[in-house]
Amino acid sequence: MSEINPNDFLILVVDDISHNLQFIGNLLEEAGYETTFATSGRQAIERVKNARPALVLLDLMMPDIDGIEVCSILKSDPNYKDIPIIFLTASHETTHLVQAFQQGAVDYITKPFKAEEIIVRIENQLRLYTQEKQLAEQNIQLQKEIQHRITVEADLEEKATQLEQALKELKSTQVELIQSKKMSSLGQIVAGIAHEINNPASFIMGNINHAIQYFNDFYHLVELYQQALPESTPEINELIEEIDLDFLVDDWKKMMNSIKLGAERLYQIVCSLRNFSRLGEAEIKSVDIHQGIDNSLLILQHRLQAVGARPEIKIIKDYGQLPQVMCYPSQLNQVFLYLLANAIDAIEKVSGVMPTITIRTELSREQNQQDTNNPLPETDVVNIYITDNGIGINKKILANIFDPFFTTKPVGNGTGLGLSISHQIIVDKHKGQIHCHSTPGQGTTFIVTIPLTILPYSPIKYQDSRG
Ligand SMILES: Nc1ncnc2c1ncn2[C@@H]1O[C@H](COP(=O)(O)OP(=O)(O)OP(=O)(O)O)[C@@H](O)[C@H]1O
Ligand SMILES: [Mg+2]
Repeated sequence: MSEINPNDFLILVVDDISHNLQFIGNLLEEAGYETTFATSGRQAIERVKNARPALVLLDLMMPDIDGIEVCSILKSDPNYKDIPIIFLTASHETTHLVQAFQQGAVDYITKPFKAEEIIVRIENQLRLYTQEKQLAEQNIQLQKEIQHRITVEADLEEKATQLEQALKELKSTQVELIQSKKMSSLGQIVAGIAHEINNPASFIMGNINHAIQYFNDFYHLVELYQQALPESTPEINELIEEIDLDFLVDDWKKMMNSIKLGAERLYQIVCSLRNFSRLGEAEIKSVDIHQGIDNSLLILQHRLQAVGARPEIKIIKDYGQLPQVMCYPSQLNQVFLYLLANAIDAIEKVSGVMPTITIRTELSREQNQQDTNNPLPETDVVNIYITDNGIGINKKILANIFDPFFTTKPVGNGTGLGLSISHQIIVDKHKGQIHCHSTPGQGTTFIVTIPLTILPYSPIKYQDSRG
């Protein structure tokens, strides 16, 4: 039990009989309490208002305002309602006592007074009151602490969210950096090679027709000589036989044609390489998507050829009727390259099937969710489906394939960036979508959707089309 210090407490004693006051007053002063007195109900209320007591000893029966009424007045005042009141009563009438407790009394003492009882009851109430007050204070303190903790927790949570966001942004920036570095170096290399090949290819292309023409002229001259001099010398006859002139002429024509074909192909490759790298075309442009896919295929041509037991990878093109598409062509080509490279990688992991990559395109109309950002009910989109019959992707892996640096390839073989870069290009740059469906062991389809209307059309182009 906690000790109380009587010095700290002022006790108001209210009784209309003075010797009662004197008796209790002496007793309390001896015990060390501060005391104050009132001989009537009215005076009692005044005293309380003048100096708030820690406890009131209140006579039940008094002439003007009786104890019950004083109690009721004090209890109805929020400033005083928590002051403990102990009734002093000669009456044993239970009705009065019940009334007193109903009004908020905490205890009662019966007359004639016994000194010890009075002190013990007062102590009890003061102790209770003090403890209650402490409890209430602790409660308030606790509540403050809880509030503080809630605030700190919310703060922490917010910081965690911010950190998470920052990490995400960092990763995305990193990908962008790597992507642009990769792209610019790839673009430079491709453009460089295209330029290098272009010169010798031009020599061949520029000269081959002349060479064919010159030879024909030359041979015509030989024919004329033969007609003019049918009796040729044995030396000439021997040479004609030795070089097998008829065969030579025939083969020469074939050779020239195949050189011409080769040169034309070289020229095509150079065009495709240039088209692919599209240096200086970082800007948005209206292009033929099919050409982009074909160029990417051409670049991967060497990987489509038969190797070992694996036959050549068959490419099935199921191209729909597409309009020119506004896009960032070099970046879109890069996506095709990544998706096709992945498809080839997946095919290389299986055997016993006819390796096939199917590329299907279509123009389609997509229903939009109408909101303030997207007031158009429908959007025209181009869908590109790239399907392989490779190893497929299981569900667990499928959930991660677009994450930066996620790869199932051995260390050093894949960067795990192909799909995250593709995602960035399609979703962020072109406001499109990229999805993947896969059946493990059977194959995979990537679907790229590019909207035709979301990207800003160049106004010049718009005016052009209206004349
Ligand atoms: N067509 C596919 N078939 C099966 N798995 C695929 C296919 N495309 C992607 N994946 C899976 O997704 C992973 C991530 O592909 P992503 O292109 O991002 O990186 P990567 O191919 O591993 O590396 P990099 O592109 O640098 O060579 C691959 O490692 C592979 O597991
Ligand atoms: Mg890849």
